Amino acid sequence: MRLKSIVLASISGALLASGALQAEEGDAVRGESLAWSCMGCHAVESARNSYPSYRVPMLGGQNELYLYQSLVAYREGQREHATMQAQVRSLSDQDLRDLAAYFAGDDD
Ligand code: HEC
Repeated sequence: MRLKSIVLASISGALLASGALQAEEGDAVRGESLAWSCMGCHAVESARNSYPSYRVPMLGGQNELYLYQSLVAYREGQREHATMQAQVRSLSDQDLRDLAAYFAGDDD
């Protein structure tokens, strides 16, 4: 058991060092290029969900992990909202990470 965890630790260390795990990080610049379709709702202060009627949440400055987990939940159908589910249905984990990194940043 002990040897196994040492081996695993050195493999993940090697992956980290080679940059192979870097794709786990959100890339805000790439996220910005994916975010144009979100802006029609999320960047408009007066935008409302039609039924029931409530304000579309503002995403700028929200917690990155929260945003990512929300997007995954829509995609996996754990969080119900037909429009948001349709928005992210075809996006990859990396796309969702990048979008979360972009919206969590200060520059939006
Ligand atoms: C047609 C309007 C519309 C578009 C386009 C849209 N959204 Fe949404 N989004 C909503 C609404 C309405 C909600 C609130 C849904 C709910 O009650 O769960 C929401 C919720 C969210 C949430 C959860 C926010 C929170 O505070 O919990 C995230 C994250 C999100 N959207 C990201 C995105 C991203 C990323 C895109 C583009 C790929 C996008 N949305 C496109 C309308 C939209």
